Amino acid sequence: MTDNAVKNAPKLWAGRFSQETDALVHQFNASLSFDKRLWPYDIEGSLAHVKMLGKCGIIPIEDAQTIVEGLETLAADLGSDAVALDLGAEDVHMAVETLLTQRLGPVAGKLHTARSRNDQIATDIRLYVKDAIADLDEKAERVQSRLVELASQHLDTLLPGVTHLQHAQPVRLAHHLLAYFWMLSRDRERLADSLKRTDRLPLGAGALAGTTFPIDRHFVAEELGFSSVIENSLDAVSDRDFAIETVSAVSILMMHLSRLSEELILWSSPEFGYVEMGDNVTTGSSIMPQKKNPDVAELLRGKTGRVYGDLTALLTIMKSLPLAYNKDMQEDKEPLFDALDTASISLAVLHTLLGNITFKTDRMAGALRGDFSTATDLADYLVRQELPFRQAHEVVGKIVGRCVAEGRALEDLSAADLVEASPLFQGVDAAALISPRGSADARAAYGGTGRGAVEAQLVRAQSWLEAFGLAA
Ligand code: ARG
Repeated sequence: MTDNAVKNAPKLWAGRFSQETDALVHQFNASLSFDKRLWPYDIEGSLAHVKMLGKCGIIPIEDAQTIVEGLETLAADLGSDAVALDLGAEDVHMAVETLLTQRLGPVAGKLHTARSRNDQIATDIRLYVKDAIADLDEKAERVQSRLVELASQHLDTLLPGVTHLQHAQPVRLAHHLLAYFWMLSRDRERLADSLKRTDRLPLGAGALAGTTFPIDRHFVAEELGFSSVIENSLDAVSDRDFAIETVSAVSILMMHLSRLSEELILWSSPEFGYVEMGDNVTTGSSIMPQKKNPDVAELLRGKTGRVYGDLTALLTIMKSLPLAYNKDMQEDKEPLFDALDTASISLAVLHTLLGNITFKTDRMAGALRGDFSTATDLADYLVRQELPFRQAHEVVGKIVGRCVAEGRALEDLSAADLVEASPLFQGVDAAALISPRGSADARAAYGGTGRGAVEAQLVRAQSWLEAFGLAA
Protein backbone atom coordinates (compact mmCIF):
# COMPACT_ATOMS: atom_id res chain seq x y z
CA MET A 1 0.00 0.00 0.00
CA THR A 2 1.41 3.40 -0.98
CA ASP A 3 0.95 6.61 0.93
CA ASN A 4 -1.56 7.74 -1.63
CA ALA A 5 -3.93 4.79 -1.21
CA VAL A 6 -7.62 5.64 -1.06
CA LYS A 7 -9.28 3.83 1.79
CA ASN A 8 -12.73 5.34 1.74
CA ALA A 9 -13.97 4.15 -1.64
CA PRO A 10 -13.72 0.40 -2.01
CA LYS A 11 -13.63 -0.69 -5.64
CA LEU A 12 -16.32 -3.11 -6.80
CA TRP A 13 -13.71 -4.77 -9.00
CA ALA A 14 -11.04 -5.13 -6.30
CA GLY A 15 -11.06 -8.96 -6.14
CA ARG A 16 -7.90 -9.63 -8.11
CA PHE A 17 -5.97 -6.67 -6.70
CA SER A 18 -3.69 -6.86 -3.70
CA GLN A 19 -2.84 -3.16 -3.49
CA GLU A 20 -5.18 -0.26 -3.13
CA THR A 21 -5.33 2.27 -5.93
CA ASP A 22 -2.91 5.16 -5.74
CA ALA A 23 -4.86 8.32 -4.88
CA LEU A 24 -3.61 10.20 -7.90
CA VAL A 25 -4.45 7.29 -10.17
CA HIS A 26 -7.90 7.16 -8.63
CA GLN A 27 -8.39 10.85 -9.25
CA PHE A 28 -7.17 10.54 -12.83
CA ASN A 29 -9.30 7.51 -13.54
CA ALA A 30 -12.50 8.67 -11.88
CA SER A 31 -15.34 10.19 -13.84
CA LEU A 32 -17.91 10.79 -11.11
CA SER A 33 -17.25 14.52 -10.99
CA PHE A 34 -18.68 14.86 -14.48
CA ASP A 35 -20.79 11.74 -15.03
CA LYS A 36 -22.80 12.13 -11.82
CA ARG A 37 -25.48 13.97 -13.76
CA LEU A 38 -26.26 10.63 -15.42
CA TRP A 39 -27.62 9.02 -12.25
CA PRO A 40 -31.31 9.29 -13.19
CA TYR A 41 -30.58 7.56 -16.50
CA ASP A 42 -28.36 5.00 -14.82
CA ILE A 43 -31.17 4.08 -12.45
CA GLU A 44 -33.72 4.05 -15.27
CA GLY A 45 -31.51 1.66 -17.23
CA SER A 46 -30.98 -0.53 -14.16
CA LEU A 47 -34.72 -0.70 -13.51
CA ALA A 48 -35.41 -1.96 -17.03
CA HIS A 49 -32.49 -4.39 -16.82
CA VAL A 50 -33.47 -5.92 -13.49
CA LYS A 51 -37.11 -6.27 -14.51
CA MET A 52 -35.89 -8.19 -17.54
CA LEU A 53 -33.61 -10.37 -15.38
CA GLY A 54 -36.62 -11.27 -13.25
CA LYS A 55 -38.98 -11.82 -16.18
CA CYS A 56 -36.49 -14.07 -17.97
CA GLY A 57 -35.86 -16.12 -14.82
CA ILE A 58 -32.18 -15.13 -14.75
CA ILE A 59 -32.55 -14.06 -11.13
CA PRO A 60 -35.45 -14.97 -8.80
CA ILE A 61 -38.44 -12.73 -9.37
CA GLU A 62 -38.54 -11.76 -5.66
CA ASP A 63 -34.92 -10.56 -5.85
CA ALA A 64 -35.75 -8.55 -8.96
CA GLN A 65 -38.69 -7.04 -7.11
CA THR A 66 -36.50 -6.14 -4.12
CA ILE A 67 -33.97 -4.47 -6.41
CA VAL A 68 -36.70 -2.59 -8.30
CA GLU A 69 -38.06 -1.20 -5.03
CA GLY A 70 -34.56 -0.36 -3.83
CA LEU A 71 -33.77 1.50 -7.04
CA GLU A 72 -37.06 3.40 -6.97
CA THR A 73 -36.54 4.55 -3.39
CA LEU A 74 -32.96 5.43 -4.15
CA ALA A 75 -34.02 7.53 -7.14
CA ALA A 76 -36.55 9.38 -4.98
CA ASP A 77 -33.96 9.97 -2.26
CA LEU A 78 -31.29 11.17 -4.68
CA GLY A 79 -33.89 13.40 -6.32
CA SER A 80 -34.81 15.03 -3.02
CA ASP A 81 -31.20 15.19 -1.83
CA ALA A 82 -32.06 12.93 1.09
CA VAL A 83 -28.99 10.96 0.10
CA ALA A 84 -25.91 11.86 -1.93
CA LEU A 85 -23.55 9.95 -4.19
CA ASP A 86 -20.24 9.09 -2.53
CA LEU A 87 -17.82 11.41 -4.26
CA GLY A 88 -15.01 8.97 -3.58
CA ALA A 89 -16.59 6.46 -5.96
CA GLU A 90 -15.03 5.85 -9.36
CA ASP A 91 -18.01 6.62 -11.55
CA VAL A 92 -21.76 7.03 -11.52
CA HIS A 93 -22.41 3.31 -11.96
CA MET A 94 -20.29 2.40 -8.95
CA ALA A 95 -21.72 5.22 -6.88
CA VAL A 96 -25.31 4.12 -7.52
CA GLU A 97 -24.56 0.44 -7.00
CA THR A 98 -22.72 1.16 -3.76
CA LEU A 99 -25.69 3.08 -2.37
CA LEU A 100 -28.03 0.27 -3.43
CA THR A 101 -25.82 -2.31 -1.77
CA GLN A 102 -25.71 -0.29 1.46
CA ARG A 103 -29.51 -0.40 1.48
CA LEU A 104 -30.27 -3.91 0.23
CA GLY A 105 -27.20 -5.92 1.17
CA PRO A 106 -25.76 -8.67 -1.06
CA VAL A 107 -28.91 -9.10 -3.16
CA ALA A 108 -28.04 -5.77 -4.84
CA GLY A 109 -25.07 -7.57 -6.33
CA LYS A 110 -27.46 -9.48 -8.61
CA LEU A 111 -28.26 -6.31 -10.56
CA HIS A 112 -25.03 -6.44 -12.51
CA THR A 113 -25.79 -9.93 -13.87
CA ALA A 114 -25.56 -10.03 -17.67
CA ARG A 115 -24.35 -6.48 -17.82
CA SER A 116 -21.12 -4.49 -18.01
CA ARG A 117 -20.34 -0.86 -17.36
CA ASN A 118 -19.56 -0.71 -21.05
CA ASP A 119 -23.10 -1.34 -22.24
CA GLN A 120 -24.41 0.50 -19.18
CA ILE A 121 -22.62 3.77 -19.97
CA ALA A 122 -23.54 3.56 -23.65
CA THR A 123 -27.18 3.22 -22.57
CA ASP A 124 -26.99 6.06 -20.05
CA ILE A 125 -25.56 8.51 -22.57
CA ARG A 126 -28.05 7.57 -25.25
CA LEU A 127 -30.92 8.15 -22.82
CA TYR A 128 -29.34 11.44 -21.82
CA VAL A 129 -28.83 12.61 -25.41
CA LYS A 130 -32.42 11.73 -26.30
CA ASP A 131 -33.67 14.05 -23.56
CA ALA A 132 -31.16 16.74 -24.51
CA ILE A 133 -32.34 16.67 -28.13
CA ALA A 134 -35.94 17.09 -26.95
CA ASP A 135 -34.86 20.06 -24.83
CA LEU A 136 -32.96 21.71 -27.69
CA ASP A 137 -35.85 21.11 -30.05
CA GLU A 138 -38.29 22.81 -27.70
CA LYS A 139 -35.98 25.78 -27.17
CA ALA A 140 -35.29 26.15 -30.89
CA GLU A 141 -39.03 26.09 -31.50
CA ARG A 142 -39.49 29.00 -29.10
CA VAL A 143 -36.88 31.03 -30.96
CA GLN A 144 -38.63 30.21 -34.23
CA SER A 145 -41.98 31.36 -32.84
CA ARG A 146 -40.40 34.63 -31.79
CA LEU A 147 -38.91 35.11 -35.24
CA VAL A 148 -42.33 34.52 -36.79
CA GLU A 149 -43.86 37.01 -34.36
CA LEU A 150 -41.24 39.67 -35.21
CA ALA A 151 -41.54 38.95 -38.92
CA SER A 152 -45.30 39.43 -38.85
CA GLN A 153 -44.77 42.82 -37.16
CA HIS A 154 -42.28 43.85 -39.84
CA LEU A 155 -43.87 42.84 -43.11
CA ASP A 156 -43.68 46.43 -44.28
CA THR A 157 -40.28 47.36 -42.87
CA LEU A 158 -37.58 47.64 -45.53
CA LEU A 159 -33.84 47.67 -45.07
CA PRO A 160 -30.88 47.38 -47.39
CA GLY A 161 -30.16 43.76 -48.15
CA VAL A 162 -26.41 43.40 -48.38
CA THR A 163 -23.84 41.16 -50.02
CA HIS A 164 -20.19 41.65 -49.03
CA LEU A 165 -21.76 43.97 -46.42
CA GLN A 166 -22.37 46.40 -49.30
CA HIS A 167 -25.89 47.58 -50.06
CA ALA A 168 -27.33 45.25 -52.68
CA GLN A 169 -31.15 45.30 -52.94
CA PRO A 170 -33.89 46.37 -50.56
CA VAL A 171 -35.46 43.54 -48.57
CA ARG A 172 -38.28 43.25 -46.08
CA LEU A 173 -37.14 42.87 -42.46
CA ALA A 174 -39.69 40.05 -42.22
CA HIS A 175 -37.90 38.29 -45.05
CA HIS A 176 -34.53 38.74 -43.36
CA LEU A 177 -35.81 37.36 -40.04
CA LEU A 178 -37.51 34.42 -41.71
CA ALA A 179 -34.18 33.40 -43.25
CA TYR A 180 -33.14 32.51 -39.69
CA PHE A 181 -36.43 30.74 -39.12
CA TRP A 182 -35.65 28.33 -41.97
CA MET A 183 -32.08 27.79 -40.75
CA LEU A 184 -33.51 26.72 -37.41
CA SER A 185 -36.03 24.48 -39.15
CA ARG A 186 -33.14 22.58 -40.73
CA ASP A 187 -31.32 22.50 -37.39
CA ARG A 188 -34.35 20.87 -35.83
CA GLU A 189 -34.57 18.42 -38.72
CA ARG A 190 -30.93 17.51 -38.24
CA LEU A 191 -31.47 16.95 -34.50
CA ALA A 192 -34.53 14.83 -35.24
CA ASP A 193 -32.48 12.79 -37.64
CA SER A 194 -29.72 12.32 -35.12
CA LEU A 195 -32.34 11.23 -32.63
CA LYS A 196 -33.32 8.32 -34.90
CA ARG A 197 -29.82 6.88 -34.65
CA THR A 198 -29.44 7.73 -30.95
CA ASP A 199 -32.71 5.95 -30.21
CA ARG A 200 -31.23 2.42 -30.33
CA LEU A 201 -30.50 0.23 -27.34
CA PRO A 202 -26.91 -0.90 -26.60
CA LEU A 203 -27.74 -2.67 -23.31
CA GLY A 204 -27.32 -6.43 -23.48
CA ALA A 205 -24.04 -6.14 -25.37
CA GLY A 206 -22.22 -6.95 -22.14
CA ALA A 207 -18.58 -5.95 -22.02
CA LEU A 208 -18.18 -6.55 -25.74
CA ALA A 209 -19.21 -10.02 -26.85
CA GLY A 210 -22.78 -10.37 -25.61
CA THR A 211 -23.85 -12.48 -22.63
CA THR A 212 -24.21 -16.12 -21.69
CA PHE A 213 -27.59 -15.40 -20.05
CA PRO A 214 -30.90 -15.70 -21.94
CA ILE A 215 -31.70 -11.96 -21.84
CA ASP A 216 -34.51 -10.21 -23.69
CA ARG A 217 -33.07 -7.02 -25.17
CA HIS A 218 -36.29 -6.13 -26.98
CA PHE A 219 -38.14 -6.08 -23.66
CA VAL A 220 -35.50 -3.70 -22.24
CA ALA A 221 -35.74 -1.51 -25.34
CA GLU A 222 -39.48 -1.25 -24.89
CA GLU A 223 -39.18 -0.49 -21.18
CA LEU A 224 -36.71 2.32 -21.88
CA GLY A 225 -38.52 3.68 -24.93
CA PHE A 226 -35.83 2.81 -27.46
CA SER A 227 -37.26 2.09 -30.87
CA SER A 228 -34.78 -0.62 -31.73
CA VAL A 229 -31.90 -2.75 -30.47
CA ILE A 230 -28.30 -2.38 -31.72
CA GLU A 231 -27.44 -5.40 -33.84
CA ASN A 232 -23.80 -5.96 -32.94
CA SER A 233 -22.48 -6.10 -29.38
CA LEU A 234 -19.02 -4.78 -30.35
CA ASP A 235 -20.55 -1.85 -32.18
CA ALA A 236 -23.03 -1.22 -29.36
CA VAL A 237 -20.39 -0.63 -26.68
CA SER A 238 -17.75 1.07 -28.73
CA ASP A 239 -19.29 3.71 -30.95
CA ARG A 240 -20.13 7.25 -30.01
CA ASP A 241 -21.16 8.36 -33.48
CA PHE A 242 -24.60 9.33 -32.16
CA ALA A 243 -22.94 11.83 -29.82
CA ILE A 244 -20.72 13.16 -32.58
CA GLU A 245 -23.66 13.45 -34.93
CA THR A 246 -25.71 15.31 -32.33
CA VAL A 247 -22.87 17.68 -31.45
CA SER A 248 -22.30 18.21 -35.15
CA ALA A 249 -25.96 19.22 -35.59
CA VAL A 250 -25.56 21.42 -32.50
CA SER A 251 -22.44 23.02 -34.00
CA ILE A 252 -24.32 23.91 -37.17
CA LEU A 253 -27.13 25.32 -35.05
CA MET A 254 -24.63 27.42 -33.10
CA MET A 255 -23.13 28.62 -36.37
CA HIS A 256 -26.58 29.93 -37.28
CA LEU A 257 -27.00 31.62 -33.90
CA SER A 258 -23.57 33.20 -34.28
CA ARG A 259 -24.57 34.75 -37.60
CA LEU A 260 -27.75 36.23 -36.18
CA SER A 261 -25.78 37.43 -33.16
CA GLU A 262 -23.18 39.05 -35.36
CA GLU A 263 -25.89 40.94 -37.21
CA LEU A 264 -27.48 42.10 -33.98
CA ILE A 265 -24.07 43.32 -32.80
CA LEU A 266 -23.47 45.21 -36.03
CA TRP A 267 -27.01 46.52 -36.16
CA SER A 268 -26.84 47.86 -32.62
CA SER A 269 -23.68 49.84 -33.35
CA PRO A 270 -24.24 53.58 -33.85
CA GLU A 271 -23.07 53.30 -37.46
CA PHE A 272 -26.00 51.03 -38.28
CA GLY A 273 -28.42 51.95 -35.53
CA TYR A 274 -30.97 49.42 -36.83
CA VAL A 275 -31.53 47.83 -33.43
CA GLU A 276 -31.90 49.00 -29.86
CA MET A 277 -31.39 46.32 -27.23
CA GLY A 278 -33.22 46.61 -23.92
CA ASP A 279 -31.37 47.54 -20.74
CA ASN A 280 -32.35 44.12 -19.38
CA VAL A 281 -30.34 42.30 -22.05
CA THR A 282 -27.25 44.52 -22.26
CA THR A 283 -24.40 45.29 -19.90
CA GLY A 284 -22.43 48.36 -18.92
CA SER A 285 -18.77 49.23 -18.74
CA SER A 286 -16.85 49.56 -15.48
CA ILE A 287 -15.04 52.63 -16.79
CA MET A 288 -17.07 54.24 -19.57
CA PRO A 289 -20.37 55.45 -18.13
CA GLN A 290 -22.05 55.84 -21.52
CA LYS A 291 -21.54 52.24 -22.61
CA LYS A 292 -24.28 49.74 -23.29
CA ASN A 293 -22.74 46.58 -24.67
CA PRO A 294 -24.32 43.71 -26.61
CA ASP A 295 -22.54 41.11 -24.43
CA VAL A 296 -25.28 38.53 -24.83
CA ALA A 297 -24.95 38.46 -28.60
CA GLU A 298 -21.16 38.50 -28.33
CA LEU A 299 -21.21 35.54 -25.96
CA LEU A 300 -23.49 33.64 -28.31
CA ARG A 301 -20.92 34.29 -31.01
CA GLY A 302 -18.05 33.23 -28.75
CA LYS A 303 -19.77 30.12 -27.40
CA THR A 304 -20.12 28.89 -30.95
CA GLY A 305 -16.34 28.50 -31.06
CA ARG A 306 -16.45 26.58 -27.83
CA VAL A 307 -19.01 24.12 -29.21
CA TYR A 308 -16.88 23.59 -32.33
CA GLY A 309 -14.07 22.74 -29.90
CA ASP A 310 -16.32 20.14 -28.26
CA LEU A 311 -17.04 18.58 -31.65
CA THR A 312 -13.36 18.50 -32.51
CA ALA A 313 -12.58 16.93 -29.14
CA LEU A 314 -15.16 14.17 -29.66
CA LEU A 315 -13.98 13.40 -33.18
CA THR A 316 -10.38 13.31 -32.06
CA ILE A 317 -11.04 11.15 -28.99
CA MET A 318 -12.75 8.56 -31.18
CA LYS A 319 -10.28 8.68 -34.03
CA SER A 320 -8.42 5.39 -34.65
CA LEU A 321 -9.73 3.67 -31.51
CA PRO A 322 -9.58 -0.10 -31.94
CA LEU A 323 -12.67 -2.11 -31.00
CA ALA A 324 -14.18 -2.44 -28.50
CA TYR A 325 -14.44 -0.20 -25.40
CA ASN A 326 -11.36 1.87 -24.52
CA LYS A 327 -11.04 4.15 -21.52
CA ASP A 328 -10.40 7.04 -23.92
CA MET A 329 -14.14 7.01 -24.40
CA GLN A 330 -14.71 8.26 -20.87
CA GLU A 331 -13.44 11.58 -22.24
CA ASP A 332 -16.59 11.87 -24.37
CA LYS A 333 -18.74 13.16 -21.48
CA GLU A 334 -17.36 16.63 -20.85
CA PRO A 335 -17.40 17.86 -24.46
CA LEU A 336 -20.77 16.22 -25.07
CA PHE A 337 -22.38 17.76 -21.97
CA ASP A 338 -20.69 21.08 -22.60
CA ALA A 339 -21.97 21.31 -26.17
CA LEU A 340 -25.52 20.36 -25.14
CA ASP A 341 -25.54 22.71 -22.12
CA THR A 342 -24.10 25.56 -24.14
CA ALA A 343 -26.60 25.22 -26.98
CA SER A 344 -29.47 24.93 -24.53
CA ILE A 345 -28.72 28.15 -22.66
CA SER A 346 -27.80 29.88 -25.92
CA LEU A 347 -31.19 29.18 -27.44
CA ALA A 348 -32.95 30.24 -24.25
CA VAL A 349 -31.03 33.50 -23.99
CA LEU A 350 -31.49 34.26 -27.67
CA HIS A 351 -35.24 33.91 -27.16
CA THR A 352 -35.02 36.46 -24.35
CA LEU A 353 -32.82 38.77 -26.40
CA LEU A 354 -35.20 38.68 -29.36
CA GLY A 355 -38.04 39.56 -27.01
CA ASN A 356 -36.21 42.70 -25.86
CA ILE A 357 -35.05 44.43 -28.99
CA THR A 358 -36.60 47.26 -30.97
CA PHE A 359 -35.99 47.65 -34.66
CA LYS A 360 -35.31 51.25 -35.69
CA THR A 361 -37.32 51.23 -38.88
CA ASP A 362 -36.56 54.89 -39.61
CA ARG A 363 -32.83 54.15 -39.57
CA MET A 364 -33.37 51.26 -41.97
CA ALA A 365 -35.41 53.48 -44.28
CA GLY A 366 -32.74 56.18 -44.03
CA ALA A 367 -30.05 53.71 -44.99
CA LEU A 368 -31.91 52.99 -48.21
CA ARG A 369 -31.89 56.63 -49.31
CA GLY A 370 -29.38 57.32 -52.03
CA ASP A 371 -27.77 53.90 -51.69
CA PHE A 372 -28.21 52.72 -55.32
CA SER A 373 -29.79 49.51 -54.08
CA THR A 374 -32.48 49.68 -56.77
CA ALA A 375 -30.03 49.78 -59.68
CA THR A 376 -30.94 46.18 -60.57
CA ASP A 377 -34.54 47.33 -61.01
CA LEU A 378 -33.50 49.82 -63.64
CA ALA A 379 -31.64 47.08 -65.48
CA ASP A 380 -34.60 44.69 -65.15
CA TYR A 381 -36.82 47.37 -66.66
CA LEU A 382 -34.62 47.56 -69.75
CA VAL A 383 -34.68 43.77 -69.99
CA ARG A 384 -38.47 43.90 -70.05
CA GLN A 385 -38.05 46.28 -73.02
CA GLU A 386 -36.15 43.36 -74.59
CA LEU A 387 -32.61 44.63 -74.10
CA PRO A 388 -30.31 41.67 -73.26
CA PHE A 389 -29.49 41.72 -69.52
CA ARG A 390 -25.74 42.19 -70.03
CA GLN A 391 -26.34 45.38 -72.07
CA ALA A 392 -28.89 46.60 -69.56
CA HIS A 393 -26.34 46.04 -66.79
CA GLU A 394 -23.81 48.16 -68.73
CA VAL A 395 -26.29 51.03 -69.29
CA VAL A 396 -27.24 51.18 -65.62
CA GLY A 397 -23.61 50.82 -64.54
CA LYS A 398 -22.89 53.98 -66.52
CA ILE A 399 -25.84 55.77 -64.90
CA VAL A 400 -24.53 54.85 -61.44
CA GLY A 401 -20.99 55.88 -62.36
CA ARG A 402 -22.25 59.23 -63.50
CA CYS A 403 -24.33 59.76 -60.35
CA VAL A 404 -21.35 58.90 -58.14
CA ALA A 405 -19.13 61.31 -60.06
CA GLU A 406 -21.72 64.07 -59.75
CA GLY A 407 -22.61 63.35 -56.15
CA ARG A 408 -26.21 62.50 -56.97
CA ALA A 409 -28.42 59.57 -56.06
CA LEU A 410 -30.65 57.46 -58.32
CA GLU A 411 -33.62 59.22 -56.72
CA ASP A 412 -32.32 62.53 -58.09
CA LEU A 413 -32.52 61.38 -61.70
CA SER A 414 -35.27 62.86 -63.84
CA ALA A 415 -37.10 60.96 -66.56
CA ALA A 416 -35.05 62.95 -69.05
CA ASP A 417 -31.78 61.82 -67.44
CA LEU A 418 -32.87 58.23 -67.82
CA VAL A 419 -33.94 58.66 -71.45
CA GLU A 420 -30.57 60.20 -72.14
CA ALA A 421 -28.93 57.02 -70.84
CA SER A 422 -31.21 54.81 -72.90
CA PRO A 423 -34.18 55.68 -75.16
CA LEU A 424 -35.85 52.55 -73.82
CA PHE A 425 -36.60 54.52 -70.62
CA GLN A 426 -39.06 56.67 -72.65
CA GLY A 427 -42.30 57.11 -70.71
CA VAL A 428 -41.05 55.34 -67.57
CA ASP A 429 -42.32 56.22 -64.07
CA ALA A 430 -38.80 56.74 -62.73
CA ALA A 431 -39.82 57.35 -59.12
CA ALA A 432 -41.79 54.11 -58.91
CA LEU A 433 -39.02 52.14 -60.55
CA ILE A 434 -36.37 53.49 -58.22
CA SER A 435 -38.31 53.35 -54.96
CA PRO A 436 -37.17 50.70 -52.46
CA ARG A 437 -40.76 49.59 -51.89
CA GLY A 438 -41.42 49.23 -55.60
CA SER A 439 -38.18 47.31 -55.90
CA ALA A 440 -39.02 44.94 -53.04
CA ASP A 441 -42.59 44.38 -54.17
CA ALA A 442 -41.48 43.60 -57.69
CA ARG A 443 -39.76 40.51 -56.32
CA ALA A 444 -43.03 38.64 -56.21
CA ALA A 445 -41.79 35.21 -57.29
CA TYR A 446 -41.92 32.34 -54.77
CA GLY A 447 -39.34 32.86 -52.01
CA GLY A 448 -38.68 36.50 -52.94
CA THR A 449 -39.04 39.63 -50.85
CA GLY A 450 -42.26 40.94 -52.46
CA ARG A 451 -45.05 41.58 -49.98
CA GLY A 452 -47.30 38.79 -51.24
CA ALA A 453 -44.40 36.37 -51.41
CA VAL A 454 -43.32 37.13 -47.84
CA GLU A 455 -46.90 36.88 -46.57
CA ALA A 456 -47.15 33.45 -48.18
CA GLN A 457 -43.76 32.51 -46.70
CA LEU A 458 -44.96 33.55 -43.25
CA VAL A 459 -47.98 31.25 -43.61
CA ARG A 460 -45.71 28.40 -44.64
CA ALA A 461 -43.41 29.10 -41.68
CA GLN A 462 -46.39 28.90 -39.33
CA SER A 463 -47.57 25.63 -40.90
CA TRP A 464 -44.05 24.23 -40.64
CA LEU A 465 -44.04 25.03 -36.91
CA GLU A 466 -47.38 23.31 -36.41
CA ALA A 467 -46.49 20.25 -38.45
CA PHE A 468 -42.96 19.55 -37.22
CA GLY A 469 -42.46 17.06 -34.43
CA LEU A 470 -39.60 14.94 -33.09
CA ALA A 471 -40.06 11.40 -34.34
CA ALA A 472 -38.92 9.30 -31.36
N1 ARG B 1 -16.77 5.69 -16.66
C1 ARG B 1 -16.69 4.87 -17.82
C2 ARG B 1 -16.90 5.72 -19.08
O1 ARG B 1 -17.43 6.75 -18.94
C3 ARG B 1 -17.73 3.81 -17.78
C4 ARG B 1 -17.36 2.55 -18.50
C5 ARG B 1 -16.21 1.96 -17.83
N2 ARG B 1 -15.88 0.70 -18.36
C6 ARG B 1 -14.71 0.13 -18.08
N3 ARG B 1 -14.49 -1.02 -18.61
N4 ARG B 1 -13.83 0.69 -17.32
O2 ARG B 1 -16.54 5.36 -20.16
